[in-house]
Amino acid sequence: MARQAAAVIEDHDHVRVISHNDADGLTSASIICQALLRKGIRFHATIVPRLDSSVADMVMASAEERDLVLFCDMGSGQSGILSAIKNPMVILDHHVPVGDSPAKVVVNPHLVGIDGAMHISASGTTYLVAKALDPANVDLAGMAIAGAVGDKQLMDTVNGTILKEAVDAGVVTVRKGLKVGDGNIADVLEYTPEPYLDITGDRQRIDEFLSILGLRGETSRLSEEQLKKLTSAVALKLAKRSTSEAIDASIGDVYYLNKELVKNVYDLVSIFNTCGRMEKAGIAISIGMRDKTHLEEAMKMSVGYQREIVGNIKAASDMLRMGQSIGYLITKDMESTGMVASTMVRYINPDMPFVAVNQVDDIVKVSARGTRALVSKGLDLAFALREAAKAVGGEGGGHNIASGASIPPGTEEQFISKVDEIVGQQLGKK
Ligand code: C5P
Ligand code: C5P
Ligand code: C5P
Repeated sequence: MARQAAAVIEDHDHVRVISHNDADGLTSASIICQALLRKGIRFHATIVPRLDSSVADMVMASAEERDLVLFCDMGSGQSGILSAIKNPMVILDHHVPVGDSPAKVVVNPHLVGIDGAMHISASGTTYLVAKALDPANVDLAGMAIAGAVGDKQLMDTVNGTILKEAVDAGVVTVRKGLKVGDGNIADVLEYTPEPYLDITGDRQRIDEFLSILGLRGETSRLSEEQLKKLTSAVALKLAKRSTSEAIDASIGDVYYLNKELVKNVYDLVSIFNTCGRMEKAGIAISIGMRDKTHLEEAMKMSVGYQREIVGNIKAASDMLRMGQSIGYLITKDMESTGMVASTMVRYINPDMPFVAVNQVDDIVKVSARGTRALVSKGLDLAFALREAAKAVGGEGGGHNIASGASIPPGTEEQFISKVDEIVGQQLGKK
């Protein structure tokens, strides 16, 4: 599949690239743009929050007849929308394919029986195509790993193979420790949303915690013994109330991307997520293509955005409401409700899935997150949100463990009780 895609790409001298505004989409775009540049193929990249008919209209208005249109991290589930595009298309994606694709080539792990939700991201898929274009593109493997980390994937099977290749080529180095960005330890613990600890955001308690451990300074300067002390103390805090997923997400392998401008993978993921949310995707791609111009600005923006998320998580804990089978909140204009919901279920209220209902302008957006333990008991948030949204005139979907919806304003309470009812049935079944 990757070879076929590479052959179609090489047949064109201009490519219209469309990708997603999260870390996986932005790393994918960085990889393919770098690979095209190296081949001398001109490109025009646009980053969008979702693939809807306005994207197809934009492509039709801006692409020349001879252009190849290339989608990353989207397109597999929207064959109907894509059929409005008359140019030849290539799709590099990891979402579940739906319907017959109008694209010339679709590269998607699901088509060869690999679960794209867990084992390879869009960035990994795009990296395989970049390598088919030129084996020397192995230096882009760090971006592939970053996209998978951004999508909270497992580093086994295909991701594991890419990681091994990256390590063998000296592109990535693995170090054990706390899965956070680099910087002054106290600062990092203060503004980083994950791991979410009882001291997160509270400088006085962080200083006390570090002084008891006798730790200070830069995270990257900690000795192995100091790192062990820090991770053990964090593990102890997490053991009190969090899920095993929270511990996995907080402590373990940290990837250092030796060829990239931003070395620590958690820093890169945060910068890219922030740029995507702040409509500064161009900055993310320039950093992904190793141009330093906007690096400092992006790092500052990322720290500010993470602080905002920490504030939102605190606010969400205060607003937490309980149904029979779900935790939830109903609010307005909250940033990053996906991250808030994922923190609520992993760290604060782990026995029930969490549903964040957030009105932005005249649409109500919903993000729901569960845990692997709840999924193994029968939880399917994609089904629950799709059905509940349908019942109130909205639409929703996603994955069993993480899903979203859009519903009309005024239907929030009715929607929540429907989700609560469906989740109750799911968890009562097994
Ligand atoms: O990946 P998920 O949708 O759960 O994350 C929700 C959002 O949280 C991301 O799209 C991103 O905007 C933000 N985020 C972040 N920094 C992180 C992780 C997530 O800004 N370290
Ligand atoms: O927006 P959020 O990050 O919470 O979305 C989680 C998952 O739900 C994503 O996979 C997204 O594609 C999916 N989703 C959906 N329909 C919506 C909103 C989100 O399928 N209306
Ligand atoms: O749009 P997409 O399908 O990639 O979104 C998937 C969402 O599910 C991301 O926000 C990702 O962070 C979230 N997720 C999660 N827990 C998992 C796997 C994915 O919160 N175990």
